[in-house]
Amino acid sequence: MSHSSDLISEDIIQYLQNHEQKGLLRCITCGSVDDGKSTLIGRLLFESQLLFEDQLQAVEAESKKFGTQGDKTDLALLVDGLAAEREQGITIDVAHRFFSTDKRKFIIADTPGHEQYTRNMITGASTADAAILVVDARYGILSQTRRHSYLISLIGVRHIVVAINKMDLVNYSEDTFNTIVEEYSEFAKKIGTGQLTFIPISALAGDNITKPGSNMPWYRGTPLMHYLETVQINDEHMQNAPFRMAVQWVNRPDLNFRGFAGQIASGIVSPGDKIRALPSGKESTIDTITTYNGDLDRAVAGQSVTLTLQDEIDISRGDMITSASEPCAVGKQFQTTIIWMHEDPLLPGRNYLLQTSSKTVKASVTEIRYEININTLEHIAAKKLELNGIGQCNISLDQDIAFDPYTDNKDTGNFILIDRMTNNTVGAGLINFALRRSTNITKQHLDTDKQIRSELKSQKPCIIWLTGLSGSGKSTIANQVEKMLVASGHHTYLLDGDNVRHGLNKDLGFTDQDRVENIRRISEVAKLMVDAGLIVLAAFISPFRSERLMAREMVEDGEFIEVFINTPLEVTEERDVKGLYKKARRGELKNFTGIDSPYEEPASPDCEIRTTTMTPVQAAEIIINFLKDQKII
Ligand code: ADX
Repeated sequence: MSHSSDLISEDIIQYLQNHEQKGLLRCITCGSVDDGKSTLIGRLLFESQLLFEDQLQAVEAESKKFGTQGDKTDLALLVDGLAAEREQGITIDVAHRFFSTDKRKFIIADTPGHEQYTRNMITGASTADAAILVVDARYGILSQTRRHSYLISLIGVRHIVVAINKMDLVNYSEDTFNTIVEEYSEFAKKIGTGQLTFIPISALAGDNITKPGSNMPWYRGTPLMHYLETVQINDEHMQNAPFRMAVQWVNRPDLNFRGFAGQIASGIVSPGDKIRALPSGKESTIDTITTYNGDLDRAVAGQSVTLTLQDEIDISRGDMITSASEPCAVGKQFQTTIIWMHEDPLLPGRNYLLQTSSKTVKASVTEIRYEININTLEHIAAKKLELNGIGQCNISLDQDIAFDPYTDNKDTGNFILIDRMTNNTVGAGLINFALRRSTNITKQHLDTDKQIRSELKSQKPCIIWLTGLSGSGKSTIANQVEKMLVASGHHTYLLDGDNVRHGLNKDLGFTDQDRVENIRRISEVAKLMVDAGLIVLAAFISPFRSERLMAREMVEDGEFIEVFINTPLEVTEERDVKGLYKKARRGELKNFTGIDSPYEEPASPDCEIRTTTMTPVQAAEIIINFLKDQKII
């Protein structure tokens, strides 16, 4: 979650960590719109020292970006400044507020309360030691409070303080406070949150911020600032976890010195410790721990180091070095929790890039087991995940990764999903556990292979993939090409949309997710047929670039030929061979390609056919000539 979009520069964090010996607490604020978050943050800043005012010349430019505007001497102005930033959209992303007291330094990730900013909340929460959940005492637990609580607990923030704010507006009533505590505790029990603390406050009047004040003598707990100064920091927690370090790069492989550089995600390491490299499973012993400042006797979570080993074992970038006695697990199929963060929904079967702290691999969701309604916590059936949707999903990767369950180690148990076409981060995920399905299925070695089968047929097998709108002429041209190939003695098979949908894919319709699954299955079948040594013709609308790329990548380089049957919509609609366009225009046929369902044209097809200027036979000849040029036939 933090891999691609860490919003605070590492410089600042380093600075804060190194500057003085005071601990650094990272927290996140969340709650509903108008619950008084700005006032609360303003109040915390007001009652402490703004870190960046005089101390941070070194990172002055950054401080302007991240520090707080406004005059610290005046609380009202400070709060106004925060609110104005928000209104002007300056803090669409998480805004980081820095301050310190004589006990600690603090970074507060101030996240916008609106629903569309879930993504920012997750970014903020993934590194947070504690969450301040603000509740308006007048309204109690709102749906947004539940949403945020669920997310915080999912992300595993270990300490949650529920700041019940605006107590001044409910006459500082102990009963009101108790009612909210009860209601929230009930909900929290169901979702299993971290450690809970409730504090009644008035951010405006200053009650229970740094001092108890005189309005709530019935409250015997600590003020909020004291809580923040004493709550346990994650870094300490991470040092107690087993040793994990993802290898970011391998140093000087040409010389004798082979060092493995990276940042320690968890645990402690010393020379002489036994380690295991994953996914290979090879073991060795730490020889030295090197940093820019010389060699160390010991390094801990958070430090960036270079390790050398006593044995020459093969470790590359993206591998994980772990404790030998408590290593990570390795797997390629997982049950996960995915939080979807993009307007284009998650579609099972589609290939995404999955990025962990060490590696980027190809992944697809094989099943959405259920989606979670985070207000009621009900499990709902889902075929796709929309923006902000949270689902329990099975995923399958194209190669092994080293991992821990997220609940054991946040760093090695989280991932992000990236759209392959746009490179956008579209989802965040937590690994729950590995599915052992794949480990019990080994690949059977067969003596007769693709080469033997195709040599027998004296041909090079391949897939000729025809894509284009309905009625563009794909089937007619594919049929013609096959006739010509057979006439010259080739062994072929034609897979056609309408036919496959009567058999193998008769359970699929025309929603986006069904089309993805349609093409996924067809690609698998076409791949098997290539393995059988055949020249396969595939004629499908195949409207999405992503799935056409998937089909291409299933076979070897040069075995996939994308043919764009480029017939403009006006022409296909005019032809309307099956009368489907008329139906679609009348609204009787939903999700019709080109009308109310998209068609993504190939950006660089291997071969393009414009049917408006040629006959099907001429079109087929172009394809046949292309195959000859490529020495396929
Ligand atoms: S694909 O989008 O999943 O690749 P496919 O090529 O299998 O589609 O099937 C397309 C054929 O199904 C069309 O040629 C048309 O005859 C028929 N069809 C029925 N409904 C639709 C629809 N909503 N959109 C497109 N084609 C449809």
